[in-house]
Amino acid sequence: LSVKKELEKILTTATSHEFEHTKKDLDGFRKLFHRFLQEKGPSVDWGKIQRPPEDSIQPYEKIKARGLPDNISSVLNKLVVVKLNGGLGTSMGCKGPKSLIGVRNENTFLDLTVQQIEHLNKTYNTDVPLVLMNSFNTDEDTKKILQKYNHCRVKIYTFNQSRYPRINKESLLPIAKDVSYSGENTEAWYPPGHGDIYASFYNSGLLDTFIEEGKEYIFVSNIDNLGATVDLYILNHLMNPPNGKRCEFVMEVTNKTRADVKGGTLTQYEGKLRLVEIAQVPKAHVDEFKSVSKFKIFNTNNLWISLAAVKRLQEQNAIDMEIIVNPKTLDGGLNVIQLETAVGAAIKSFENSLGINVPRSRFLPVKTTSDLLLVMSNLYSLNAGSLTMSEKREFPTVPLVKLGSSFTKVQDYLRRFESIPDMLELDHLTVSGDVTFGKNVSLKGTVIIIANHGDRIDIPPGAVLENKIVSGNLRI
Ligand code: UTP
Repeated sequence: LSVKKELEKILTTATSHEFEHTKKDLDGFRKLFHRFLQEKGPSVDWGKIQRPPEDSIQPYEKIKARGLPDNISSVLNKLVVVKLNGGLGTSMGCKGPKSLIGVRNENTFLDLTVQQIEHLNKTYNTDVPLVLMNSFNTDEDTKKILQKYNHCRVKIYTFNQSRYPRINKESLLPIAKDVSYSGENTEAWYPPGHGDIYASFYNSGLLDTFIEEGKEYIFVSNIDNLGATVDLYILNHLMNPPNGKRCEFVMEVTNKTRADVKGGTLTQYEGKLRLVEIAQVPKAHVDEFKSVSKFKIFNTNNLWISLAAVKRLQEQNAIDMEIIVNPKTLDGGLNVIQLETAVGAAIKSFENSLGINVPRSRFLPVKTTSDLLLVMSNLYSLNAGSLTMSEKREFPTVPLVKLGSSFTKVQDYLRRFESIPDMLELDHLTVSGDVTFGKNVSLKGTVIIIANHGDRIDIPPGAVLENKIVSGNLRI
């Protein structure tokens, strides 16, 4: 009850211009918070989790083997591409939207996305639109940049996801005093995860607009996944299903390696496909969950979803996503929690859902500067906004790169490389401490460079390091 009062108090501080959307946000938050209070015990019963049946996760090769129809343009014209763009680049030390970080030849994530879709539209003479789901954190900066694409052959739309109040961990009351989100209130609000897309897309009116225009599916993905390009074979499978029964929801999954312990996995649960995240797994079963043999695949967050189904389920209030409780300590030391949901968790609410096991190349996320180094290097080549592994690399696997904390921020990282080293023959790179790389360095095999505290290592221009350990204050 006291939360309700607090929220009402906050709403009274909204200007008439802010009132409508603030009310929608606070109503959405209230529903989520109510569900959170009602929750008793874990959201999944481990005993009910089963391996998904054979045909519920199909290999990509099987989907591809069906080929493409002649009318691929008309199929493409029923598609809308949606990129999740609510997140900031804080994990790489940037203040603004992550999508505006330069990833390859000065191109940002957003530039590459626009180039990919423009190429598609030019090649097939289509009008596939791009929709960005922004948050209050990213909207202003993103919109400023969008003018740059006015002359591109891609119509770009944006909508804002909700803005929810963070709550004090002890009192469970919002910490915001009013609707503003600057000054004292900067840390009082948060975007509640990408699961928010269903309600926000619906509320924005765009969902209806696209349905009226004859669009049928959205392809949703993380803007920081450079492998998430429009795949015509998957689209064709959706629009022309072999058994005549359309899937309302397709989740692209890919084989787990030992390094992928974080991603959620698809399971069979009470007769339906369900995404289970590690946070939902009881402690006693965490190792079993992480094992590569029992749960072989994980969610790439590349999702293909029927627009009509989103509309139907949203209107029935039937999209059920587990609540993720995200605890945070704010700058001043205050402990808060924020309630979030994940877009893939809704799979269980849709009819006829399917997993497609795609090649690893469709999952190329850039979460750290180590990932950034790989995508900036000659391991990949860039073609119409898409990155593909260079044919010159002998093994199809990516090297393991671990850059130390002096490289965490993009600015520091860029300063430390005069040019990006040749990495075609690299297997493993570990760099720690105050290290810089001169122009045209080649790294091959396993290379470990460790500058001890107080020392600096400058790798000279043109150096070739092959299976080498460089440490201490050694200069080479
Ligand atoms: P995340 O920050 O959730 O990435 O953002 P993650 O920690 O790797 O988690 P997963 O496993 O990929 O989900 C993933 C994408 O979702 C967007 C981000 O901008 C990014 O593109 N996002 C995240 C939103 O749009 N809104 C949010 O509230 C959170």
